[in-house]
Amino acid sequence: MKIGILTSGGDCPGINATIRGVCKTAINHYGIEVYGIHNGFRGLLDDDITPLTENSLTGLLNMGGTILGTSREKPFKRRMSPASEDKPAMMLNTIRNRELDCIVCIGGNGTQKTAAKLMESGVNVVSIPKTIDNDVWGTDISFGFDSAVSIATEAIDRLHSTASSHQRVMVIEVMGHKAGWIALHSGMAGGGDIILLPEIPYDIHRIGDTIINRLKKGKPYSIVVVAEGIQTMEGKKAAQYIAEEIAYETGFETRETVLGYIQRGGSPTAFDRNLATRMGGHATELIAQGLFGRMIALKGDRIDSVPLGEVAGKLKLVTPDHDLILQGRRMGVCFG
Ligand code: F6P
Repeated sequence: MKIGILTSGGDCPGINATIRGVCKTAINHYGIEVYGIHNGFRGLLDDDITPLTENSLTGLLNMGGTILGTSREKPFKRRMSPASEDKPAMMLNTIRNRELDCIVCIGGNGTQKTAAKLMESGVNVVSIPKTIDNDVWGTDISFGFDSAVSIATEAIDRLHSTASSHQRVMVIEVMGHKAGWIALHSGMAGGGDIILLPEIPYDIHRIGDTIINRLKKGKPYSIVVVAEGIQTMEGKKAAQYIAEEIAYETGFETRETVLGYIQRGGSPTAFDRNLATRMGGHATELIAQGLFGRMIALKGDRIDSVPLGEVAGKLKLVTPDHDLILQGRRMGVCFG
């Protein structure tokens, strides 16, 4: 048996650990040949594929990024390709010519959609959720999230120094696309005084009141954690908008920090390494049993899988009754 493996969408900590988990289980345990497809689905278009061997896997467990390279290529989006290029047919040709029995697709929401379309075209597919945003539907957690939260939490910890020394309001913007998972988890873990998420509307006057009330209690500084996806005016970026509004509302000196790609680079946490390894191994188990068309998922403390067709097109967002939101409200740091 021969399988291909690709990584698509934004890089995140733990991708290489998953590649290692898939390959070690395939090569050593089942004697399955594995081929690395470079730069996401673009590698299938360009036939950019190389064999992966035991030697390719050395040092992968703690390495950030993806050794296979990635791209945001969406081969099923017709309007994105010239009329002369039939990208789905080009991919099927490569898979047929290379005699690949299954494609393992590691990626976030966009990747799950493309993987589902590939499956509908008759290709055996098993997918693995990967994103710092934690917004892939069907899995409790995706690897990369814990690492991003750790980095963002450390950044918030460090901002406390300037906030208290200069008596400023420090606004930090974290990633998450349309979801507030990173903001919620890092904001709570870092002791943020106000946490703003795309899923929960906020009131700028209440933010001002919170900051003034802290001043009255002898705390003339605040940390505000904002998700990049929150609603703003005039197309302004989240941190810039909130920092300007707070300065206007309260008269406080404000500063903004956009954490950016720092939060998705570098080595995965121990939790992410193990989650990625388990998910990779489980994907190979399914392939060995001939079970295709499924996305690997963490359910409670068990690794399981869900039908890929059920995942595609759905987003897992923070709900107002989430435990951390409830506690954040009790502590006056979350709205809703
Ligand atoms: O999906 C992961 C993510 O890092 C989001 O949090 C962010 O909005 C986006 O990717 C950034 O994408 P790009 O790498 O294309 O700039």
